[in-house]
Amino acid sequence: MSDKTTSVIDLDWDAFDPWRIQPFRHRLTEHPLLQTEQLVELGKRCRGTKLWYAFSSDATAGTDFDDASNLFPTSKSAVDSLKDISSAKAWVLLRHIQADPTYRELVGAVINSMQPMIERKDPGVYYRAGWIFSASPNTATPFHIDRSHVFLLQVRGTKTVYVWDAEDTQVCSDRARDCFHFRHDLSRTLWSEEFRARAHVFELGPGMGVYMPLTSPHMVETSKESSTTISFTYNTDATRRNARVHVMREMLYKLGMTPPDYGKSRVFDQAAFAAASAIVVCRGPGAHPPACPSLRQKSAYAVAD
Ligand SMILES: [Fe+2]
Repeated sequence: MSDKTTSVIDLDWDAFDPWRIQPFRHRLTEHPLLQTEQLVELGKRCRGTKLWYAFSSDATAGTDFDDASNLFPTSKSAVDSLKDISSAKAWVLLRHIQADPTYRELVGAVINSMQPMIERKDPGVYYRAGWIFSASPNTATPFHIDRSHVFLLQVRGTKTVYVWDAEDTQVCSDRARDCFHFRHDLSRTLWSEEFRARAHVFELGPGMGVYMPLTSPHMVETSKESSTTISFTYNTDATRRNARVHVMREMLYKLGMTPPDYGKSRVFDQAAFAAASAIVVCRGPGAHPPACPSLRQKSAYAVAD
């Protein structure tokens, strides 16, 4: 596990494309830190912090992921839900597990083991983070996008993961990504049942996983059994470039201008990246926009926000 030269992920690295959704297999199902007792202990250490969310299983694919008032707080605490997730009627997200020294080692070991292979195609890995989801049976994780590349690993139970291509603008428009990168606004990332027909669908069991590029829309449904998943996320030079272009696009919209579609004008995208980068430098760390600290600083690990 601590061997940085052996990846725990089995993936055809020669065929790896950082902008393509890909399934893989992994060897983390029996890892001690991913067993229920250790997750409960992590949950206890997260008490009183913003490092966890717990929601009832009433959430659906179309629930607004960004609005906590829509997410039906569970009647049980996160720790109680983790102790007996099979009957909790909840899903619990332990966020930014790299903020915990023990789990930071796990995040570092897994991502560092993949880093040489990733960087052959996608240089500049930074902003490492980990996220653990425990979900009761028949639970949905609402449709949303994320601000990093994601390796999602199924540890226990089964679930169905629906993922759409990062460049699928019918499912998630350029403007939705602009708003998301500018201020983490998911109000334009809206679910429609019709999307299912054009999704990449993965039935994941223990030892299976799926790689999702930056802002690939996704939605997850658990089966009749409870589920535990861990995601390892990171950013690269390319994700930062992509996100900064989207930030600049949103600023232009606010000025009443309409930029060309993302990726359709190399000249515009290069100018937008340069302008956004200059703004980030001028504003300095902590300023807005952009929303995500990863666009302002290249730290090895993500900042828990
Ligand atoms: Fe996600």
